[in-house]
Amino acid sequence: EKGGYDHFMLKEIFEQPRSIRDTLRGRLLPDEGIISMSGVKEYGAKFENASRILFVACGTSWHAGLVAEYMFEEFARIPVEVEYASEFRYRNPIITEDDVVIAISQSGETADTLAAIELAKKKGATIFGICNVVGSSIARASHAGAYTHAGPEIGVASTKAFTAQVAVLALIALEIGRRKGALTESRFRSLISELDQIPKKVEQMLESEDMTVSIAEMYKDVSNFLYLGRGYNFPVALEGALKLKEISYIHAEGYPAAEMKHGPIALIDENMPVVVIATKNGQYEKVVSNIQEIKARNGKIIAVVNEGDETIREMADHVIEIPDTDEAFTPLITTIPLQLLSYHIAVMRGCNVDQPRNLAKSVTVE
Ligand code: M6R
Repeated sequence: EKGGYDHFMLKEIFEQPRSIRDTLRGRLLPDEGIISMSGVKEYGAKFENASRILFVACGTSWHAGLVAEYMFEEFARIPVEVEYASEFRYRNPIITEDDVVIAISQSGETADTLAAIELAKKKGATIFGICNVVGSSIARASHAGAYTHAGPEIGVASTKAFTAQVAVLALIALEIGRRKGALTESRFRSLISELDQIPKKVEQMLESEDMTVSIAEMYKDVSNFLYLGRGYNFPVALEGALKLKEISYIHAEGYPAAEMKHGPIALIDENMPVVVIATKNGQYEKVVSNIQEIKARNGKIIAVVNEGDETIREMADHVIEIPDTDEAFTPLITTIPLQLLSYHIAVMRGCNVDQPRNLAKSVTVE
């Protein structure tokens, strides 16, 4: 049942080229230059005229919502808020009929997320559900939705469900952007053909597993890890840290890289590994300065960079290269080595990766 892998988590990590392809299949049609999604079509006017899009979710699904914030604002030019379902539901939030609330949930059973959409529905918002489990409570409580087609996820740590969520959210953001005219036809077409290449690039990324094994060997005994990223890769830093703490029990924190000097830099010494997602984008130079600041304090740098980045190679202790893609889609690729790193560290520490202590696959109580 584990398909020859030692754990479900590893199997699910390696399934990602297929699960992302399944999520895009029949929806992303690059040859025709279109995206076809029935739920989005049906509620197209609601999305186009939305005064705001609110994402509600928990855990890893909340991280997918953060990636979507960048996508929806860039592609569709709609203001976005990303909410922890648990906070949103208890603070008497301001919701109007012009709001579209997108609930993201692998299981479709998370108690707080379900309660958040019930509340928003009562206040007249349109509810769109993004679930992996077909027929789940959140899917049923939504007006419309789009399933991720990741297939059953058994490992408690979410891996392929996350990338499928990001893929489906990319499709929706692109389609709304096209409908609103926020994206030009040529930009839309170039983005969809790039998105179509992602499964292949994820496959390529998985080939660098050995690199994550050797990094894991060096750092498996540390007590703390820091993860930094900016822009589209800030949520990836959060996700990398969550994945490490939940399965290896190493304390880890993710931060937007620029926040480092507002506190976390005090933690840096020769015992602190810092995973920096430093792909080429608008803020690249600034991330390079962060790396220099960490090195000046003897921190250890594990950098995720674009292929052929010599600048960072000279500064970092370890470099993991990713294939080039549009900045917006980098989370689908940069997440992969971080999943593998957590997995290998957890295995080396003798942890139960598929069933970490104190955690349940779906959190049906608040
Ligand atoms: O089923 P959901 O996506 O609603 O679950 C949300 C979180 O409980 C979940 O993502 C959790 O954080 C995972 N264990 C993360 O790997």
